[in-house]
Amino acid sequence: MAKPFYVTTPIYYVNDAPHIGHAYTTLACDVLARFKRLDGFDVKFLTGTDEHGQKVEKSAQAAGIEPQAFTDKVSQNFRDLADFMNFTHDDFIRTTEARHRTACQDLWRRLVDAGDIYLGSYAGWYAVRDEAFYGEDELTTGPDGKKTAPSGAEVEWVEEPSYFFKLSAWEDRLLAFYDANPDFIAPRTRRNEVTSFVKGGLQDLSVSRTTFNWGVPVPGDDAHIMYVWLDALTNYITAVGYPETADGAYARYWPADLHMVGKDILRFHAVYWPAFLMAAGLAPPKRVFAHGWWTNEGQKISKSLGNVIDPIELVGKYGLDQVRYFLLREVPFGNDGDFSHRAMVNRMNGELANDYGNLAQRVLSMIAKNCDGRVPEAGALGTDDEALLEQAGGLLGALREKMDAQAFHEALEAVWVVIRAANAYVDAQAPWKLRKEDPARMATVLHVLAETIRRLAVTTQPFMPEASSRLLDQLGVAAEARDFAAARPLEAGQALPKPEGVFPRFVDDEDGA
Ligand code: MSP
Repeated sequence: MAKPFYVTTPIYYVNDAPHIGHAYTTLACDVLARFKRLDGFDVKFLTGTDEHGQKVEKSAQAAGIEPQAFTDKVSQNFRDLADFMNFTHDDFIRTTEARHRTACQDLWRRLVDAGDIYLGSYAGWYAVRDEAFYGEDELTTGPDGKKTAPSGAEVEWVEEPSYFFKLSAWEDRLLAFYDANPDFIAPRTRRNEVTSFVKGGLQDLSVSRTTFNWGVPVPGDDAHIMYVWLDALTNYITAVGYPETADGAYARYWPADLHMVGKDILRFHAVYWPAFLMAAGLAPPKRVFAHGWWTNEGQKISKSLGNVIDPIELVGKYGLDQVRYFLLREVPFGNDGDFSHRAMVNRMNGELANDYGNLAQRVLSMIAKNCDGRVPEAGALGTDDEALLEQAGGLLGALREKMDAQAFHEALEAVWVVIRAANAYVDAQAPWKLRKEDPARMATVLHVLAETIRRLAVTTQPFMPEASSRLLDQLGVAAEARDFAAARPLEAGQALPKPEGVFPRFVDDEDGA
Protein backbone atom coordinates (compact mmCIF):
# COMPACT_ATOMS: atom_id res chain seq x y z
CA MET A 1 0.00 0.00 0.00
CA ALA A 2 1.26 3.48 -0.90
CA LYS A 3 2.74 5.55 1.91
CA PRO A 4 0.45 8.36 3.10
CA PHE A 5 1.49 12.00 2.83
CA TYR A 6 -0.74 14.65 4.40
CA VAL A 7 -0.06 18.31 3.61
CA THR A 8 -2.17 21.32 4.59
CA THR A 9 -2.43 25.02 3.83
CA PRO A 10 -3.66 27.50 6.41
CA ILE A 11 -7.39 28.04 6.05
CA TYR A 12 -7.98 31.53 4.76
CA TYR A 13 -10.05 34.22 6.42
CA VAL A 14 -13.07 34.98 4.33
CA ASN A 15 -13.02 38.68 5.17
CA ASP A 16 -11.43 39.67 1.92
CA ALA A 17 -10.63 38.84 -1.70
CA PRO A 18 -7.85 36.29 -2.20
CA HIS A 19 -4.44 37.81 -2.97
CA ILE A 20 -0.94 36.72 -3.86
CA GLY A 21 -0.10 35.66 -0.29
CA HIS A 22 -2.92 33.12 -0.29
CA ALA A 23 -2.00 31.82 -3.72
CA TYR A 24 1.63 31.48 -2.63
CA THR A 25 1.02 29.26 0.40
CA THR A 26 -1.30 26.97 -1.52
CA LEU A 27 1.01 26.86 -4.53
CA ALA A 28 3.88 25.57 -2.41
CA CYS A 29 1.62 22.80 -1.08
CA ASP A 30 0.31 22.02 -4.54
CA VAL A 31 3.80 21.55 -5.96
CA LEU A 32 4.70 19.29 -3.08
CA ALA A 33 1.45 17.32 -3.34
CA ARG A 34 1.94 16.81 -7.09
CA PHE A 35 5.55 15.75 -6.57
CA LYS A 36 4.60 13.20 -3.91
CA ARG A 37 1.75 11.79 -6.03
CA LEU A 38 4.11 11.34 -8.96
CA ASP A 39 6.49 9.68 -6.54
CA GLY A 40 3.90 7.07 -5.56
CA PHE A 41 2.61 8.49 -2.27
CA ASP A 42 -1.02 8.38 -1.21
CA VAL A 43 -1.41 12.15 -0.88
CA LYS A 44 -4.00 14.06 1.02
CA PHE A 45 -3.80 17.78 0.31
CA LEU A 46 -6.12 20.02 2.31
CA THR A 47 -7.03 23.66 1.96
CA GLY A 48 -10.10 25.67 2.93
CA THR A 49 -11.55 28.73 4.62
CA ASP A 50 -11.58 30.08 8.17
CA GLU A 51 -15.08 31.46 8.57
CA HIS A 52 -15.77 32.21 12.23
CA GLY A 53 -14.61 34.97 14.56
CA GLN A 54 -14.98 38.65 15.04
CA LYS A 55 -13.07 39.69 11.95
CA VAL A 56 -15.36 37.76 9.61
CA GLU A 57 -18.44 38.82 11.54
CA LYS A 58 -17.42 42.48 11.21
CA SER A 59 -16.79 42.09 7.47
CA ALA A 60 -20.25 40.55 7.05
CA GLN A 61 -21.79 43.44 8.97
CA ALA A 62 -19.92 45.94 6.82
CA ALA A 63 -21.25 44.16 3.73
CA GLY A 64 -24.74 44.24 5.23
CA ILE A 65 -25.26 40.46 4.96
CA GLU A 66 -25.75 37.65 7.44
CA PRO A 67 -22.42 35.98 8.30
CA GLN A 68 -23.45 32.64 6.80
CA ALA A 69 -24.48 34.15 3.46
CA PHE A 70 -21.36 36.30 3.50
CA THR A 71 -19.01 33.38 4.12
CA ASP A 72 -20.77 31.28 1.45
CA LYS A 73 -19.99 33.97 -1.06
CA VAL A 74 -16.41 34.77 -0.07
CA SER A 75 -15.43 31.14 0.46
CA GLN A 76 -16.43 30.49 -3.14
CA ASN A 77 -13.87 33.09 -4.30
CA PHE A 78 -11.13 31.03 -2.64
CA ARG A 79 -12.37 27.87 -4.30
CA ASP A 80 -12.43 29.64 -7.64
CA LEU A 81 -8.87 30.87 -7.12
CA ALA A 82 -7.73 27.34 -6.30
CA ASP A 83 -9.26 26.03 -9.53
CA PHE A 84 -7.86 28.91 -11.52
CA MET A 85 -4.33 28.27 -10.18
CA ASN A 86 -4.63 24.59 -11.15
CA PHE A 87 -4.33 23.46 -7.51
CA THR A 88 -5.00 19.80 -6.82
CA HIS A 89 -6.32 19.77 -3.24
CA ASP A 90 -8.28 16.66 -2.27
CA ASP A 91 -10.55 18.45 0.17
CA PHE A 92 -11.69 22.02 0.75
CA ILE A 93 -12.82 22.51 4.32
CA ARG A 94 -15.06 25.28 5.62
CA THR A 95 -15.16 25.83 9.38
CA THR A 96 -18.91 26.45 9.20
CA GLU A 97 -19.51 22.83 8.18
CA ALA A 98 -21.26 20.43 10.57
CA ARG A 99 -18.34 17.96 10.51
CA HIS A 100 -16.10 20.70 11.85
CA ARG A 101 -18.40 21.76 14.67
CA THR A 102 -18.48 18.13 15.82
CA ALA A 103 -14.68 17.91 15.76
CA CYS A 104 -14.19 21.21 17.64
CA GLN A 105 -16.64 20.30 20.37
CA ASP A 106 -15.11 16.88 20.78
CA LEU A 107 -11.61 18.30 21.10
CA TRP A 108 -12.91 20.80 23.67
CA ARG A 109 -14.39 17.98 25.76
CA ARG A 110 -11.09 16.14 25.69
CA LEU A 111 -9.30 19.26 26.92
CA VAL A 112 -11.82 19.66 29.72
CA ASP A 113 -11.50 15.98 30.67
CA ALA A 114 -7.73 16.34 30.77
CA GLY A 115 -8.12 19.20 33.26
CA ASP A 116 -6.51 21.73 30.92
CA ILE A 117 -9.44 24.16 30.73
CA TYR A 118 -10.82 26.40 33.47
CA LEU A 119 -13.26 29.30 33.65
CA GLY A 120 -11.93 32.76 34.44
CA SER A 121 -12.16 36.20 32.95
CA TYR A 122 -9.98 37.98 30.41
CA ALA A 123 -9.00 41.59 30.70
CA GLY A 124 -6.46 42.63 28.11
CA TRP A 125 -5.68 43.62 24.55
CA TYR A 126 -7.07 41.98 21.44
CA ALA A 127 -6.35 42.62 17.77
CA VAL A 128 -9.31 41.70 15.61
CA ARG A 129 -7.20 41.78 12.44
CA ASP A 130 -4.87 39.09 13.82
CA GLU A 131 -7.57 37.45 15.97
CA ALA A 132 -4.92 37.43 18.69
CA PHE A 133 -4.45 38.46 22.32
CA TYR A 134 -1.43 40.61 23.17
CA GLY A 135 0.38 41.50 26.36
CA GLU A 136 0.92 45.18 27.18
CA ASP A 137 4.70 44.74 26.73
CA GLU A 138 4.25 43.66 23.10
CA LEU A 139 2.45 46.84 22.04
CA THR A 140 3.61 50.14 20.57
CA THR A 141 1.80 53.40 21.25
CA GLY A 142 1.54 55.77 18.30
CA PRO A 143 1.53 59.60 18.41
CA ASP A 144 -2.29 59.51 18.39
CA GLY A 145 -2.26 57.33 21.51
CA LYS A 146 -3.47 54.28 19.58
CA LYS A 147 -1.82 51.01 20.48
CA THR A 148 -0.71 48.52 17.86
CA ALA A 149 0.48 44.92 17.87
CA PRO A 150 3.88 43.95 16.39
CA SER A 151 2.01 43.07 13.18
CA GLY A 152 0.78 46.65 12.90
CA ALA A 153 -2.79 45.65 13.76
CA GLU A 154 -4.77 47.94 16.01
CA VAL A 155 -5.68 46.49 19.40
CA GLU A 156 -8.71 47.06 21.59
CA TRP A 157 -9.28 46.52 25.30
CA VAL A 158 -11.42 43.46 26.02
CA GLU A 159 -12.94 42.40 29.34
CA GLU A 160 -15.15 39.35 29.44
CA PRO A 161 -15.70 35.99 31.11
CA SER A 162 -13.55 33.44 29.34
CA TYR A 163 -12.38 29.87 29.49
CA PHE A 164 -8.63 29.47 29.61
CA PHE A 165 -6.32 26.77 28.35
CA LYS A 166 -3.47 26.00 30.78
CA LEU A 167 -0.76 26.81 28.30
CA SER A 168 1.65 27.81 31.08
CA ALA A 169 1.80 24.16 32.14
CA TRP A 170 3.08 23.11 28.69
CA GLU A 171 6.34 25.03 28.54
CA ASP A 172 8.67 22.17 29.45
CA ARG A 173 6.79 19.59 27.47
CA LEU A 174 6.84 21.81 24.37
CA LEU A 175 10.57 22.41 24.72
CA ALA A 176 11.16 18.69 25.16
CA PHE A 177 9.05 18.05 22.06
CA TYR A 178 11.09 20.54 19.97
CA ASP A 179 14.29 18.93 21.23
CA ALA A 180 13.14 15.45 20.34
CA ASN A 181 11.93 16.61 16.92
CA PRO A 182 14.58 18.90 15.48
CA ASP A 183 12.78 19.09 12.11
CA PHE A 184 9.43 20.06 13.58
CA ILE A 185 9.89 23.77 12.85
CA ALA A 186 11.52 24.99 9.65
CA PRO A 187 13.45 27.01 8.60
CA ARG A 188 15.99 26.85 11.42
CA THR A 189 15.89 30.58 12.23
CA ARG A 190 12.15 30.27 12.86
CA ARG A 191 12.75 27.32 15.10
CA ASN A 192 15.05 29.44 17.23
CA GLU A 193 12.45 32.21 17.43
CA VAL A 194 9.81 29.81 18.63
CA THR A 195 12.00 28.14 21.24
CA SER A 196 13.06 31.48 22.69
CA PHE A 197 9.44 32.57 22.80
CA VAL A 198 8.51 29.46 24.77
CA LYS A 199 11.57 29.77 27.02
CA GLY A 200 10.47 33.34 27.77
CA GLY A 201 7.47 31.88 29.61
CA LEU A 202 3.94 31.04 28.48
CA GLN A 203 0.74 32.45 29.87
CA ASP A 204 -2.58 30.68 29.94
CA LEU A 205 -4.53 31.31 26.77
CA SER A 206 -8.05 32.67 26.58
CA VAL A 207 -9.94 30.17 24.43
CA SER A 208 -13.51 31.42 24.45
CA ARG A 209 -15.36 34.68 23.78
CA THR A 210 -18.69 35.98 25.01
CA THR A 211 -19.12 39.39 23.39
CA PHE A 212 -20.30 38.08 20.01
CA ASN A 213 -21.60 34.74 18.81
CA TRP A 214 -20.24 33.91 15.35
CA GLY A 215 -18.42 30.72 16.25
CA VAL A 216 -18.67 27.19 17.58
CA PRO A 217 -20.58 27.09 20.90
CA VAL A 218 -18.62 25.80 23.88
CA PRO A 219 -20.13 22.43 24.87
CA GLY A 220 -22.24 22.84 28.00
CA ASP A 221 -21.97 26.65 28.09
CA ASP A 222 -23.82 28.39 25.29
CA ALA A 223 -22.82 31.82 26.51
CA HIS A 224 -19.35 31.15 25.09
CA ILE A 225 -18.07 30.48 21.62
CA MET A 226 -14.66 28.97 21.04
CA TYR A 227 -11.71 31.25 20.30
CA VAL A 228 -11.39 31.31 16.54
CA TRP A 229 -7.81 29.98 16.49
CA LEU A 230 -8.73 26.88 18.50
CA ASP A 231 -11.62 26.40 16.09
CA ALA A 232 -9.46 27.04 13.00
CA LEU A 233 -6.52 24.81 13.95
CA THR A 234 -8.89 21.93 14.54
CA ASN A 235 -9.70 21.90 10.80
CA TYR A 236 -6.58 19.82 10.22
CA ILE A 237 -8.04 16.89 12.13
CA THR A 238 -11.67 17.46 11.11
CA ALA A 239 -10.65 16.79 7.53
CA VAL A 240 -9.27 13.36 8.42
CA GLY A 241 -12.46 12.28 10.13
CA TYR A 242 -11.78 13.27 13.75
CA PRO A 243 -13.38 12.54 16.30
CA GLU A 244 -13.17 9.07 14.77
CA THR A 245 -9.56 8.14 15.54
CA ALA A 246 -9.59 4.36 15.68
CA ASP A 247 -9.43 3.58 11.99
CA GLY A 248 -10.04 5.23 8.65
CA ALA A 249 -8.56 8.51 7.53
CA TYR A 250 -7.35 9.77 10.91
CA ALA A 251 -5.38 6.62 11.62
CA ARG A 252 -4.00 6.70 8.12
CA TYR A 253 -3.07 10.38 7.65
CA TRP A 254 -2.61 11.83 11.13
CA PRO A 255 -0.19 13.20 12.24
CA ALA A 256 0.07 15.47 9.21
CA ASP A 257 3.42 15.39 7.43
CA LEU A 258 3.43 19.12 6.92
CA HIS A 259 1.52 22.25 7.85
CA MET A 260 2.62 24.99 5.49
CA VAL A 261 2.09 28.46 6.96
CA GLY A 262 3.26 32.06 6.62
CA LYS A 263 5.74 33.35 9.19
CA ASP A 264 3.04 35.53 10.80
CA ILE A 265 1.05 32.52 11.99
CA LEU A 266 3.85 30.24 13.09
CA ARG A 267 3.27 30.74 16.82
CA PHE A 268 -0.28 29.41 16.55
CA HIS A 269 0.91 26.31 14.69
CA ALA A 270 4.13 25.57 16.52
CA VAL A 271 3.17 26.48 20.09
CA TYR A 272 -0.60 26.49 20.67
CA TRP A 273 -1.53 23.67 18.29
CA PRO A 274 0.90 21.00 19.56
CA ALA A 275 0.00 21.98 23.14
CA PHE A 276 -3.74 21.54 22.44
CA LEU A 277 -3.13 18.21 20.75
CA MET A 278 -0.81 16.82 23.40
CA ALA A 279 -3.23 17.92 26.12
CA ALA A 280 -6.02 16.09 24.30
CA GLY A 281 -3.87 12.97 24.03
CA LEU A 282 -3.44 13.35 20.27
CA ALA A 283 -0.23 13.39 18.26
CA PRO A 284 1.21 16.76 17.16
CA PRO A 285 1.93 17.28 13.43
CA LYS A 286 5.32 16.19 12.11
CA ARG A 287 6.42 19.50 10.70
CA VAL A 288 5.49 23.15 10.33
CA PHE A 289 7.23 25.22 7.66
CA ALA A 290 6.95 29.01 7.85
CA HIS A 291 7.50 30.82 4.56
CA GLY A 292 8.24 34.50 4.10
CA TRP A 293 6.17 37.39 2.84
CA TRP A 294 6.02 39.08 -0.54
CA THR A 295 6.38 42.80 -1.09
CA ASN A 296 5.33 44.56 -4.29
CA GLU A 297 8.08 46.51 -6.05
CA GLY A 298 9.80 46.93 -2.69
CA GLN A 299 6.69 48.01 -0.76
CA LYS A 300 4.77 46.21 1.92
CA ILE A 301 1.54 44.90 0.40
CA SER A 302 -1.51 46.49 1.95
CA LYS A 303 -5.05 47.39 1.07
CA SER A 304 -4.55 50.96 2.23
CA LEU A 305 -1.58 51.40 -0.10
CA GLY A 306 -3.70 49.95 -2.91
CA ASN A 307 -0.86 47.67 -4.07
CA VAL A 308 -2.42 44.29 -3.38
CA ILE A 309 -1.43 41.78 -6.06
CA ASP A 310 -4.39 39.97 -7.54
CA PRO A 311 -3.22 36.50 -8.61
CA ILE A 312 -5.81 36.39 -11.40
CA GLU A 313 -4.49 39.59 -12.94
CA LEU A 314 -0.93 38.37 -12.58
CA VAL A 315 -1.69 35.12 -14.37
CA GLY A 316 -3.63 36.98 -17.06
CA LYS A 317 -0.56 39.07 -17.76
CA TYR A 318 2.28 36.54 -17.54
CA GLY A 319 0.69 33.09 -17.75
CA LEU A 320 -0.07 30.50 -15.07
CA ASP A 321 3.00 28.28 -15.26
CA GLN A 322 5.18 31.37 -15.51
CA VAL A 323 3.75 32.75 -12.26
CA ARG A 324 3.97 29.36 -10.56
CA TYR A 325 7.62 29.13 -11.61
CA PHE A 326 8.50 32.67 -10.59
CA LEU A 327 7.02 32.49 -7.11
CA LEU A 328 8.99 29.39 -6.22
CA ARG A 329 12.19 30.31 -8.06
CA GLU A 330 12.69 33.95 -7.20
CA VAL A 331 13.42 33.63 -3.47
CA PRO A 332 14.84 30.93 -1.25
CA PHE A 333 11.70 29.40 0.20
CA GLY A 334 11.39 30.63 3.77
CA ASN A 335 12.77 34.12 3.03
CA ASP A 336 10.80 37.23 2.19
CA GLY A 337 10.62 38.13 -1.48
CA ASP A 338 9.90 41.08 -3.67
CA PHE A 339 7.62 40.90 -6.65
CA SER A 340 8.68 43.17 -9.46
CA HIS A 341 7.67 43.27 -13.09
CA ARG A 342 11.35 43.36 -14.08
CA ALA A 343 12.25 40.25 -12.08
CA MET A 344 9.21 38.42 -13.43
CA VAL A 345 10.07 39.23 -17.05
CA ASN A 346 13.74 38.33 -16.54
CA ARG A 347 12.88 34.88 -15.26
CA MET A 348 10.15 34.36 -17.80
CA ASN A 349 12.27 35.34 -20.80
CA GLY A 350 15.70 34.28 -19.60
CA GLU A 351 15.00 30.98 -17.88
CA LEU A 352 11.72 29.76 -19.30
CA ALA A 353 11.72 31.04 -22.90
CA ASN A 354 15.48 31.06 -23.55
CA ASP A 355 16.92 28.24 -21.47
CA TYR A 356 14.16 25.65 -21.24
CA GLY A 357 11.84 26.64 -24.09
CA ASN A 358 14.57 27.10 -26.68
CA LEU A 359 16.25 23.85 -25.76
CA ALA A 360 13.03 21.94 -26.37
CA GLN A 361 12.06 23.94 -29.43
CA ARG A 362 15.47 23.59 -31.12
CA VAL A 363 15.68 19.87 -30.51
CA LEU A 364 12.10 19.04 -31.40
CA SER A 365 12.16 21.04 -34.62
CA MET A 366 15.44 19.43 -35.71
CA ILE A 367 13.84 16.05 -35.10
CA ALA A 368 10.71 17.09 -37.02
CA LYS A 369 12.79 18.29 -39.98
CA ASN A 370 15.61 15.80 -40.10
CA CYS A 371 14.36 12.61 -38.53
CA ASP A 372 11.01 12.27 -40.24
CA GLY A 373 9.26 13.45 -37.06
CA ARG A 374 10.19 10.29 -35.16
CA VAL A 375 12.35 9.68 -32.10
CA PRO A 376 15.77 9.11 -33.70
CA GLU A 377 17.78 5.96 -33.10
CA ALA A 378 20.84 6.28 -30.83
CA GLY A 379 24.08 4.62 -31.93
CA ALA A 380 26.99 3.90 -29.59
CA LEU A 381 27.17 6.56 -26.87
CA GLY A 382 30.30 8.61 -26.22
CA THR A 383 31.42 10.11 -22.91
CA ASP A 384 29.65 13.43 -23.50
CA ASP A 385 26.38 11.68 -24.29
CA GLU A 386 26.62 9.51 -21.23
CA ALA A 387 27.59 12.43 -19.02
CA LEU A 388 24.49 14.38 -19.99
CA LEU A 389 22.17 11.41 -19.60
CA GLU A 390 23.66 10.63 -16.23
CA GLN A 391 23.21 14.18 -15.07
CA ALA A 392 19.55 14.14 -16.14
CA GLY A 393 19.10 10.71 -14.57
CA GLY A 394 20.42 11.92 -11.22
CA LEU A 395 17.92 14.75 -11.06
CA LEU A 396 15.07 12.88 -9.47
CA GLY A 397 17.13 11.71 -6.50
CA ALA A 398 18.38 15.23 -5.90
CA LEU A 399 14.86 16.61 -6.17
CA ARG A 400 13.43 14.19 -3.62
CA GLU A 401 15.79 15.58 -1.03
CA LYS A 402 15.11 19.22 -1.92
CA MET A 403 11.35 18.71 -1.88
CA ASP A 404 11.45 16.99 1.49
CA ALA A 405 13.25 20.05 2.81
CA GLN A 406 10.78 22.38 1.00
CA ALA A 407 13.77 23.90 -0.80
CA PHE A 408 11.77 24.61 -3.96
CA HIS A 409 14.24 27.18 -5.27
CA GLU A 410 17.07 24.65 -4.96
CA ALA A 411 15.00 21.99 -6.69
CA LEU A 412 14.47 24.34 -9.62
CA GLU A 413 18.13 25.34 -9.63
CA ALA A 414 19.04 21.64 -9.86
CA VAL A 415 16.75 21.32 -12.88
CA TRP A 416 18.33 24.37 -14.48
CA VAL A 417 21.84 22.96 -14.04
CA VAL A 418 20.76 20.14 -16.33
CA ILE A 419 19.00 22.50 -18.76
CA ARG A 420 22.17 24.59 -19.04
CA ALA A 421 24.27 21.46 -19.50
CA ALA A 422 21.92 20.31 -22.27
CA ASN A 423 22.17 23.68 -24.02
CA ALA A 424 25.96 23.55 -23.78
CA TYR A 425 25.84 20.03 -25.25
CA VAL A 426 23.72 21.24 -28.20
CA ASP A 427 26.25 23.97 -28.92
CA ALA A 428 29.23 21.63 -28.58
CA GLN A 429 27.75 18.82 -30.68
CA ALA A 430 26.22 21.16 -33.28
CA PRO A 431 23.79 18.53 -34.61
CA TRP A 432 22.79 20.81 -37.52
CA LYS A 433 26.33 20.44 -38.86
CA LEU A 434 26.15 16.66 -38.62
CA ARG A 435 23.13 16.40 -40.87
CA LYS A 436 25.25 15.94 -44.03
CA GLU A 437 28.59 14.81 -42.53
CA ASP A 438 27.36 12.12 -40.17
CA PRO A 439 23.57 11.59 -40.00
CA ALA A 440 23.92 8.59 -37.68
CA ARG A 441 25.80 10.72 -35.15
CA MET A 442 23.21 13.49 -35.53
CA ALA A 443 20.52 10.93 -34.71
CA THR A 444 22.42 9.87 -31.58
CA VAL A 445 22.84 13.46 -30.41
CA LEU A 446 19.18 14.28 -30.99
CA HIS A 447 18.15 11.10 -29.22
CA VAL A 448 20.25 11.96 -26.17
CA LEU A 449 18.74 15.44 -26.15
CA ALA A 450 15.16 14.27 -26.54
CA GLU A 451 15.67 11.79 -23.72
CA THR A 452 17.17 14.53 -21.54
CA ILE A 453 14.20 16.79 -22.24
CA ARG A 454 11.85 13.94 -21.34
CA ARG A 455 13.52 13.59 -17.97
CA LEU A 456 13.42 17.33 -17.42
CA ALA A 457 9.74 17.55 -18.33
CA VAL A 458 8.87 14.67 -16.00
CA THR A 459 10.52 16.50 -13.10
CA THR A 460 9.05 19.93 -13.89
CA GLN A 461 5.46 18.61 -13.89
CA PRO A 462 4.75 19.59 -10.27
CA PHE A 463 5.95 23.16 -10.84
CA MET A 464 4.63 23.82 -14.34
CA PRO A 465 2.00 21.16 -14.96
CA GLU A 466 0.55 22.59 -18.16
CA ALA A 467 3.80 23.35 -20.01
CA SER A 468 5.45 20.12 -18.86
CA SER A 469 2.51 18.08 -20.03
CA ARG A 470 2.63 19.76 -23.43
CA LEU A 471 6.34 18.97 -23.67
CA LEU A 472 5.67 15.35 -22.77
CA ASP A 473 2.92 15.25 -25.43
CA GLN A 474 5.40 16.50 -27.98
CA LEU A 475 7.82 13.76 -26.97
CA GLY A 476 5.08 11.17 -27.43
CA VAL A 477 5.19 10.16 -23.73
CA ALA A 478 2.04 8.26 -22.78
CA ALA A 479 -0.01 9.54 -19.84
CA GLU A 480 0.76 6.41 -17.82
CA ALA A 481 4.51 6.85 -18.29
CA ARG A 482 4.66 10.22 -16.55
CA ASP A 483 4.89 9.28 -12.91
CA PHE A 484 8.33 8.61 -11.50
CA ALA A 485 8.06 4.86 -11.13
CA ALA A 486 6.56 4.26 -14.58
CA ALA A 487 8.67 6.76 -16.51
CA ARG A 488 10.70 4.95 -19.18
CA PRO A 489 13.18 5.99 -21.86
CA LEU A 490 11.93 7.14 -25.25
CA GLU A 491 11.65 4.50 -27.91
CA ALA A 492 13.33 5.08 -31.24
CA GLY A 493 10.87 5.23 -34.12
CA GLN A 494 7.97 6.60 -32.11
CA ALA A 495 6.14 9.20 -34.20
CA LEU A 496 5.99 12.68 -32.66
CA PRO A 497 3.41 15.43 -33.11
CA LYS A 498 4.36 18.75 -34.69
CA PRO A 499 6.48 20.75 -32.22
CA GLU A 500 5.24 24.05 -30.85
CA GLY A 501 6.72 26.48 -28.32
CA VAL A 502 5.48 26.19 -24.74
CA PHE A 503 7.19 29.15 -23.09
CA PRO A 504 6.33 32.40 -24.88
CA ARG A 505 8.51 35.47 -24.37
CA PHE A 506 7.04 38.49 -22.65
CA VAL A 507 7.21 41.46 -24.97
CA ASP A 508 7.18 44.60 -22.98
CA ASP A 509 6.23 47.82 -24.71
CA GLU A 510 7.12 49.98 -21.74
CA ASP A 511 10.78 49.10 -21.53
CA GLY A 512 11.48 47.08 -24.64
CA ALA A 513 12.43 43.92 -22.72
N1 MSP B 1 -7.12 32.16 9.05
C1 MSP B 1 -5.76 32.24 9.42
C2 MSP B 1 -5.08 30.89 9.32
C3 MSP B 1 -5.71 29.79 10.12
S1 MSP B 1 -4.89 28.27 9.87
C4 MSP B 1 -5.51 27.26 11.02
C5 MSP B 1 -5.04 33.24 8.52
N2 MSP B 1 -5.60 33.52 7.36
S2 MSP B 1 -5.10 34.60 6.31
O1 MSP B 1 -6.03 34.54 5.24
O2 MSP B 1 -4.94 35.86 6.93
O3 MSP B 1 -3.65 34.25 5.86
C6 MSP B 1 -3.30 33.06 5.29
C7 MSP B 1 -1.90 32.98 4.78
O4 MSP B 1 -1.59 33.99 3.81
C8 MSP B 1 -0.85 33.09 5.86
O5 MSP B 1 -0.02 31.95 5.78
C9 MSP B 1 -0.10 34.34 5.51
O6 MSP B 1 1.25 34.25 5.87
C10 MSP B 1 -0.26 34.40 4.01
N3 MSP B 1 0.01 35.74 3.51
C11 MSP B 1 -0.75 36.86 3.67
N4 MSP B 1 -0.09 37.91 3.08
C12 MSP B 1 1.09 37.50 2.56
C13 MSP B 1 2.10 38.08 1.77
N5 MSP B 1 2.13 39.36 1.47
N6 MSP B 1 3.10 37.26 1.31
C14 MSP B 1 3.08 35.90 1.54
N7 MSP B 1 2.13 35.33 2.27
C15 MSP B 1 1.23 36.12 2.96
O7 MSP B 1 -3.99 33.72 8.89
